Amino acid sequence: MKPSISTSIGALTLERPTILASGILGISLNVFERLYRAGAGAVVTKSDVELVKKIVKKVKSLTNVPVIAKVGLGSTNYLETVGAAAEAGADGITAINTIRAMAIDVETKKPILSNKIGGLSGTPIKPIAVRCVYEISSKFNIPIIGCGGISTWEDAVEFILAGASAVQFGSVLGEHWAEVFAEINSGIQNYMEQKGFSSIGEMVGKAKRS
Ligand SMILES: Cc1cc2nc3c(=O)[nH]c(=O)nc-3n(C[C@H](O)[C@H](O)[C@H](O)COP(=O)(O)O)c2cc1C
Repeated sequence: MKPSISTSIGALTLERPTILASGILGISLNVFERLYRAGAGAVVTKSDVELVKKIVKKVKSLTNVPVIAKVGLGSTNYLETVGAAAEAGADGITAINTIRAMAIDVETKKPILSNKIGGLSGTPIKPIAVRCVYEISSKFNIPIIGCGGISTWEDAVEFILAGASAVQFGSVLGEHWAEVFAEINSGIQNYMEQKGFSSIGEMVGKAKRS
């Protein structure tokens, strides 16, 4: 029998450890509440730990479903944001969001993006995201959803070994559509079988213990 790839994020049990990466941008309690009422499932805030605490507490008071706070590499130490979300009662952390980046067209000598700076996602950010998951899991006892540049089952396993209980991916869907979920799930399962893991839980954070 193949090992089970079911996993848990606090009270939330997932049949499979792979989640579609998405999110909603909001910067104030007021905006958040409107988004929440409209059905939003996630929020990203400015790098303001007090605001993070307030928003997580507010969300917790609005719902009984597990609340996952997503962090990015903002201007403050992102581990402080994780600490604020954990202290306010978040059930888990998603790490990481896109990373602010820029490209300049050498012909026109102007930034390529009209906004000048945009969010970098996909393969280039993977090692940074793995590092963040490893750091968060080393410092906090909170379930983590790893995210950033995952496109293969090996990437997903890497995040799990770094400390993630589940993984998200988005950019890869630009090249390979939804079949990538099944590929990554079966790749994880085959790896578990080969390495003798009977549950995702046994693999989580293994890189810290080996
Ligand atoms: C076009 C696009 C839009 C995104 N919008 C949001 C968003 O509104 N909120 C959010 O938290 N993350 C957003 N993200 C970030 C993704 O959820 C994810 O954290 C990031 O892309 C890294 O994962 P990936 O490399 O698998 O895409 C967006 C990413 C992309 C590419």
